[in-house]
Amino acid sequence: MSYLKKVFHYAARLARIFAFAMTFALCAPAFAETPDETYKALGLAKTASPKQLYDALTKRYYDEAQGAGKGSLSKYWEPIPISKYLNPHDFYQPPQTIDIDAQRGQCVECHNQVTPGWTHSWQKSVHGNLDDIRKLPDSDSRAYKKAMIEGVENNLRSMGTLKAGDTLKEVGCIDCHMGVGKDHGQHNADLKMPDAAACGQCHVQQFAERESERDTYTWPQDQWAPGHPSHALSYKANVENAVWAAMEQREVAEGCTFCHTPQTTCNSCHTRHEFSTVQARKPQACAICHNGVDHNEFENYMLSKHGTIYQTRGDAWDWNVRLADAMEKDNQNAPTCQFCHMEYEGKFSHNMVRKARWAFEPTPKIADNLNHPWFVKRKEAWVSTCANCHSDRFARAYLDDMDKGIISGVKITEEARSVLVKLYADRLLPGQKTNRPAPPAPEKDDAGAFFQLFWQKGNNPSAVEYEFAEMWEHHKIKHYKALAHANPGGYTYTDGWSQLIKSAAKINDEDIKLREAAEIRAELNRIARERRGEVDAPWRIIAAGLGALAILLGAALLLRRDRSKA
Ligand code: HEC
Ligand code: HEC
Ligand code: HEC
Ligand code: HEC
Ligand code: HEC
Ligand code: HEC
Ligand code: HEC
Ligand code: HEC
Repeated sequence: MSYLKKVFHYAARLARIFAFAMTFALCAPAFAETPDETYKALGLAKTASPKQLYDALTKRYYDEAQGAGKGSLSKYWEPIPISKYLNPHDFYQPPQTIDIDAQRGQCVECHNQVTPGWTHSWQKSVHGNLDDIRKLPDSDSRAYKKAMIEGVENNLRSMGTLKAGDTLKEVGCIDCHMGVGKDHGQHNADLKMPDAAACGQCHVQQFAERESERDTYTWPQDQWAPGHPSHALSYKANVENAVWAAMEQREVAEGCTFCHTPQTTCNSCHTRHEFSTVQARKPQACAICHNGVDHNEFENYMLSKHGTIYQTRGDAWDWNVRLADAMEKDNQNAPTCQFCHMEYEGKFSHNMVRKARWAFEPTPKIADNLNHPWFVKRKEAWVSTCANCHSDRFARAYLDDMDKGIISGVKITEEARSVLVKLYADRLLPGQKTNRPAPPAPEKDDAGAFFQLFWQKGNNPSAVEYEFAEMWEHHKIKHYKALAHANPGGYTYTDGWSQLIKSAAKINDEDIKLREAAEIRAELNRIARERRGEVDAPWRIIAAGLGALAILLGAALLLRRDRSKA
């Protein structure tokens, strides 16, 4: 590097460090605000009251044209009994067994007998102990919650559910299960299961942050539909899936729904009835959903160095500390899922997708467009996340490594796809001409498609298609998720690359075998026909005719040449 270049280089670096320090100085502690994109989408000014923001959010949350409800494929399926808990807004009905007008105070009393586990959890929760929080000394790491209680009270005053000057005494069973501030209700008529909007009444900020995923995740080249894939539209992603709607085995299909509920409820990470932030801050809170063959983030993280530090030192961290202070207050020295995914430009929120680029599945449409400013900005945001600990240079080196590694996975998968698609187009898949029932509506037949992992009849899918479905939906995604979470065995050897190689080898093998078999079959048919002497007869006459014609033409040509020589 020349001297001048060096000076510029370091000046640029210092400017970055200065800007970084300023952001910390100006906005510490780092409270996130509802993104501008959301105010714009809702047609609100940033000065909107909590009530105005909540009403606009809720209107959209329940709008079937914007992702609520049973979706466009609802005529193909019916809810089953458990569905009422997974999507309470559309399916919940109270039990008819208890016919009483229950008073606020009676819920805990009777439920101490009926569902003691739930009352005990509630008694341990912040919801059941607001006064204890109010009494905490400022030195307690939970003291930040005092201001949060006031925030909730302000929301309720704005909505007219708490009188000016009154304080919120408790968040009782009745507030969530019948309506905020109610004194009594009919057990067999007024009972509800709280959806995200029910929590959002008190927690407008967290609800707005989660809902903002719809507005900040707008792909530049339609790689995914706006707001997808995200918690905010996770129920929609599931019910709009054709094989999910088509599956006859509704109990099995409802397994998909169990994971796809962050849209319909808020108890994904804070489980009922403790609703604990301590629990939600730990990586295990994500595990029930973010594991397995096509999103094994949990397994990758736990086996990475980051996960190792969490597992060996995490018990010494103070989990009451907010994410925003996790680094400051001498606390975490390795990142958690929450630290990496809830952070954006130094602030933490319930919007998990502000940096996402590769999303659920790496596709050519993403791989070929990483230089688009939308992607570049997000990658820069990742660099500053890592740079909380690592050098900027290390972070870039690793993230570039990740991108290139993922692209290799996309390439080998696309090569195999073209082999499989050609087999399908040539109608050479086993049973394709004889025993390939169409999948049930609204699913449509296709080669090596997602539906083939969940539905089977006759020779649909063929084994080679199943292999390909696993290749793109499982191995390629595991390859990516291991690279993204710094678990080397997960992308080089145990999973990822070495599994992609296996699938490619099997698919190419099958391609040759199927094509050779088709040739042999054609040849055998020809011989058989020849032996029978029947089928080919007309062809023989034509061939003989053509032969005779050729001899005549040849003779005519010779004659002409002889004449021209003469
Ligand atoms: C006299 C006893 C009693 C009182 C008082 C009572 N419950 Fe219940 N509750 C029950 C019983 C019993 C069930 C189980 C009903 C069943 O499984 O059919 C139940 C079930 C429930 C359920 C679960 C319903 C479901 O669909 O799974 C909720 C939530 C609930 N009660 C909330 C409340 C709230 C809130 C109050 C206070 C307003 C309250 N209960 C007061 C006895 C009571
Ligand atoms: C902060 C809100 C909140 C409070 C307070 C609350 N619940 Fe719940 N409760 C929930 C949520 C969320 C669900 C799950 C809803 C779903 O699955 O759609 C639930 C589900 C239930 C269920 C049925 C599901 C199951 O797993 O059994 C019962 C019973 C229940 N609550 C009882 C109670 C009782 C009793 C109290 C008071 C001690 C109480 N709840 C207080 C939020 C709350
Ligand atoms: C009647 C108002 C009200 C309702 C309804 C309500 N909450 Fe709360 N919640 C509070 C208050 C007040 C606090 C304490 C201040 C804070 O931490 O925000 C709190 C705290 C919390 C916390 C932090 C707990 C901790 O360990 O620090 C979580 C998580 C939470 N609520 C989740 C929920 C969920 C999920 C729902 C819906 C199922 C819900 N709340 C419904 C009022 C409410
Ligand atoms: C993906 C996991 C996840 C989901 C889903 C989730 N939360 Fe949280 N929530 C967290 C984490 C992690 C924290 C701690 C944040 C922090 O320390 O800054 C938190 C904190 C909170 C708090 C306490 C505020 C604080 O910062 O301490 C409330 C209240 C809350 N969440 C409400 C909700 C509501 C309402 C929903 C549904 C709209 C929801 N959460 C859905 C993970 C989640
Ligand atoms: C050190 C930071 C870090 C930690 C810790 C981490 N991740 Fe990630 N995660 C990433 C990066 C980087 C990507 C790829 C981002 C991209 O799309 O470019 C990613 C991708 C993802 C994606 C796909 C969406 C996206 O943003 O691209 C999910 C889902 C995910 N991680 C979940 C988790 C879960 C669950 C955990 C904990 C078990 C976890 N992550 C831990 C950094 C992290
Ligand atoms: C109840 C299940 C559930 C839990 C718990 C859960 N998630 Fe998710 N998450 C999902 C589903 C389902 C999707 C995909 C939604 C869709 O298909 O649109 C998703 C999507 C995401 C995405 C965006 C993926 C993308 O492709 O852009 C991120 C990032 C993410 N989750 C991180 C987390 C983290 C971190 C935690 C824990 C703090 C967590 N989630 C907890 C179910 C869950
Ligand atoms: C163990 C939990 C879990 C189960 C079971 C599950 N999913 Fe998902 N699903 C997720 C998570 C988490 C993501 C997002 C992961 C990411 O982006 O990295 C996701 C992503 C998706 C996506 C892509 C995102 C989008 O917005 O379009 C679709 C579609 C989907 N799932 C449908 C289904 C269907 C259909 C089933 C059942 C056949 C199913 N899921 C079963 C957790 C689950
Ligand atoms: C809170 C601090 C922290 C953050 C933030 C963080 N890391 Fe780390 N990282 C660590 C620690 C500590 C280690 C273990 C270092 C060692 O092995 O000596 C580590 C190790 C690694 C390793 C393995 C290095 C090795 O020598 O085996 C990689 C790769 C890595 N991090 C990538 C990232 C990326 C990429 C990001 C951002 C997406 C990130 N880290 C964010 C603390 C962090």
